[in-house]
Amino acid sequence: MIDSITKLRAEAEAEIAAATSSAGLEEIRVRYLGRKAQLPNLLRGVRDLPADQRGEVGKVANESRVALEALIDSRCAQLDAAELDSRLVAGGLDVTLPGDPNHSPGRLHLITQTQRELEDVFIGLGFAIAEGPEIELVQYNFDALNHAAAHPARLWTDTFYVAGADDVSNPASLVLRTHTSPVQIRAMQAQAPPIYVIVPGRVYRRDSDATHTPQFHQLEGLAVDEGITLADLKGTLLAFARATFGDEREVRLRPHFFPFTEPSVEVDVSCFNCSDGVMAGGQRCNLCKGSTWIEILGAGMVDPNVFGHVSEHGYDPERVSGFAFGLGIERIAMLKHRVPDLRLFYENDVRFLRQFG
Ligand code: DAH
Repeated sequence: MIDSITKLRAEAEAEIAAATSSAGLEEIRVRYLGRKAQLPNLLRGVRDLPADQRGEVGKVANESRVALEALIDSRCAQLDAAELDSRLVAGGLDVTLPGDPNHSPGRLHLITQTQRELEDVFIGLGFAIAEGPEIELVQYNFDALNHAAAHPARLWTDTFYVAGADDVSNPASLVLRTHTSPVQIRAMQAQAPPIYVIVPGRVYRRDSDATHTPQFHQLEGLAVDEGITLADLKGTLLAFARATFGDEREVRLRPHFFPFTEPSVEVDVSCFNCSDGVMAGGQRCNLCKGSTWIEILGAGMVDPNVFGHVSEHGYDPERVSGFAFGLGIERIAMLKHRVPDLRLFYENDVRFLRQFG
């Protein structure tokens, strides 16, 4: 009996070593160790043996079973690893590569990129960033900014009023802010002069066409200190224009009107798309329309009436003066990257968006 167990074990060991697949190995396991297989049968017969043989035969049979099980396990692990290897090689799969399809982690929207570039320029000039609410009191959006009671921007046709707080002549009415300028007032209430802040943020108007969307972004600037003049405004905007549109740029100020600045100006940057209004191919420049100047923002010297709304915070127009400016972030991005239609920024078409950054 011991002989046949030993023989069986030797046969099984040879077959296990020769197995070439995990399926083949499983078949060997069933044949030698399965419930109806030879070795368990032999083990079951042990109890019928004469008492003096039982111990030894049982021991040999049991040892063989344990040894074969261990052998099968280790051969199984070898075969599994080999099969995985060959699947990986055959499939050309490198598990260390990024997933497929290869999704990029994404990129910043061009408006965010442009906003951050502008912030960097003005932070470099010593300005700090201030923020304010997008749902704003009429008092801040219009009244404290010296808008006449009949100013057309106050009308429902131009401005989104919050339902239930929409009496256009009440300073406590609520609007979606139409510009970032109300944060001038909030910033001055929070900080005595000198103050140098920029205010990036979303603004809202009842407008919709190729160059207007109901929501867009502005960046406001405010500098108040002793002795600030229009020359400081021009120097600051020249630095901004050169950082944004190239070192050769010039700026020009044209007289304009805004309720909260006096004098007020519109600011143009010299065209970066042509020379003397003519493009390389000889046609009239499509960016400056041949004028050599491109309008980029509104600005001016802070109106003393505006200081009147924050006089208790240290803003005495006899002692301090200031400049302010406001630009459209979309407009800067459109000019810089030749984006023909403002609505492209908000359609979320990745074919457009992924061109930038
Ligand atoms: N708030 C103005 C607008 O939305 C832009 C502007 C003009 C801001 C002149 C200013 C400024 O600070 O001084 O059209």
